[in-house]
Amino acid sequence: MKIGIIGGTGFYEMEGEEIEIETKYGNVTAIHLKKWQRDIFFIARHGKAHAKPAHMVNYHANIMAMKNIGASAVMGISTVGSMKKNIRPGSIFIPSDFIDFTKRKTTFYDDVAIHVDLSQPFCPVVRGVLLGIAKNAKEGIYVATEGPRLETKAEIAMLKKFGDVVGMTLVPEAVLAREAGICYASLCLVSNYAAGLQERLSIEEIKEMYRKRKPIIEKIVNEAIKKIPARRKCRCKYAPIEGKL
Ligand code: HPA
Repeated sequence: MKIGIIGGTGFYEMEGEEIEIETKYGNVTAIHLKKWQRDIFFIARHGKAHAKPAHMVNYHANIMAMKNIGASAVMGISTVGSMKKNIRPGSIFIPSDFIDFTKRKTTFYDDVAIHVDLSQPFCPVVRGVLLGIAKNAKEGIYVATEGPRLETKAEIAMLKKFGDVVGMTLVPEAVLAREAGICYASLCLVSNYAAGLQERLSIEEIKEMYRKRKPIIEKIVNEAIKKIPARRKCRCKYAPIEGKL
């Protein structure tokens, strides 16, 4: 079984063989390794040197690379800002849903009308595995913003009426995974309170939090690799077929 991991750089690095995966959206560098008799493919979302900011990430190439290599399940790892006092920095957050405030292209299909169902936006099986491992994780709604700037206080005051955390990378990644028929779930580290919930935000603080919490994320991902069932009983793989007009 092949499992993909898309990680925020610095967050989760893996030792393995570096490979190049070709896609029609561009080539993607991945790390291939074996764990618990499973083939693991790790892609650093922002590129090797964290060069690409969130709005410049080649989400289409990353997900297509996972599809081309044959990954049936992908875990996306990222940091988020909390818009709720009870979701503290340092917590693990597993989104149950999202709202998209980005301005990005969120489809692979330009020439055929495919309307994938997102009433359950994450794979219930992979998400269930993550929730089973990360017992203290918070759940809720992820609001996706365009970035690369952080939000204003007024924006957060509005967005917190809709969701619980804010981040820049879940969309279009989760949507493209569904369009590709890949089981996808998101694992987030809350790195800070969002604008207005704390005085000032610094990137150093965000980086420091993931440095501190990296071992926890690695532990959850390692366990998940072992526990994701090889037989797919969810409907994720049928999404592009069922969504065709
Ligand atoms: N806003 C948007 N994205 C983020 C934040 C934030 O406060 N923290 C980490 N990613």
